[in-house]
Amino acid sequence: DEAEHLQPRPPVVTIMGHVDHGKTSLLDALRHTNVVSGEAGGITQHIGAYQVQVASGQRVTFIDTPGHAAFTEMRARGANTTDIVVLVVAANDGVMPQTVEAIRHARAAGVPIIVAINKIDLPDAKPERVRTELLQHEIVVEEMGGETLDVPVSAKTREGLDKLVETILLQAEVLDLKANPDRPAEGSVIEAKLERGRGSVATVLIQRGTVKVGDIFVAGGEWGRVRALLDDRGQNLKSAGPAQPVEVLGLNGTPLAGDDFVVVDSEGRAREITEFRTRK
Ligand code: GTP
Ligand code: NA
Ligand code: MG
Repeated sequence: DEAEHLQPRPPVVTIMGHVDHGKTSLLDALRHTNVVSGEAGGITQHIGAYQVQVASGQRVTFIDTPGHAAFTEMRARGANTTDIVVLVVAANDGVMPQTVEAIRHARAAGVPIIVAINKIDLPDAKPERVRTELLQHEIVVEEMGGETLDVPVSAKTREGLDKLVETILLQAEVLDLKANPDRPAEGSVIEAKLERGRGSVATVLIQRGTVKVGDIFVAGGEWGRVRALLDDRGQNLKSAGPAQPVEVLGLNGTPLAGDDFVVVDSEGRAREITEFRTRK
């Protein structure tokens, strides 16, 4: 029975917002302040998905978005990759077009939003103005009688970061997130590229089950046998489970962001699926 195998899993949090409002800076700051084991150096920078272990020992998976396009693709694929959206709004700039886009995407996906009002260290920061502007888009923060949690932060001074993590964990608790790790893995391709000396490399967010080295899989119109699995610090893994982002090596071609990832039981099955998909 599938229900008996459900186990708690980390939340998957996507960072969204207008260009230069500080999404990546915030993620960088979160990874350095809250990562228990000090692994500051040697981080693989080219993957946009990270898992951090916060002070309480809980894990949180973060996905950075450089723009909203990638996110749209993921949503359009119907991949329910994200549990929570952290909407980053720069306190000196306010609600901007991509902020509004992000709100729309989160709503369409039915994903709860936490607002991070960033850059509060700046002299021209106006967090109150941000809250008021959000009202026009039906985002009513708690302080204004609504239900959306907002946290003033600074990626630069690290002010408010603990509160932001606390708020994410609180929201995650409400969602009661679970997945079955004891089944063949399924996930979603976050990004993929052809790399010199490594072949096609896909960053995959595992959503259900556990992927292991040696597994045969299909990713969109491509397939392969897992040659290596690496975490966001470039460490080799033997396996990866629910909510874990991993780099997967061993692909025969390069899939697309948003493609599904499914472990199958044989090479024949993998060929069959990809041939069918390529023909369409
Ligand atoms: P895109 O990925 O291009 O959409 O940008 P982003 O949202 O990831 O913003 P990024 O982290 O690249 O930051 C943009 C600029 O804002 C950089 O120059 C950062 O140093 C600066 N910045 C980010 N957070 C803060 C902050 O809290 N305070 C101040 N003063 N500057 C910040
Ligand atoms: Na930027
Ligand atoms: Mg960025």
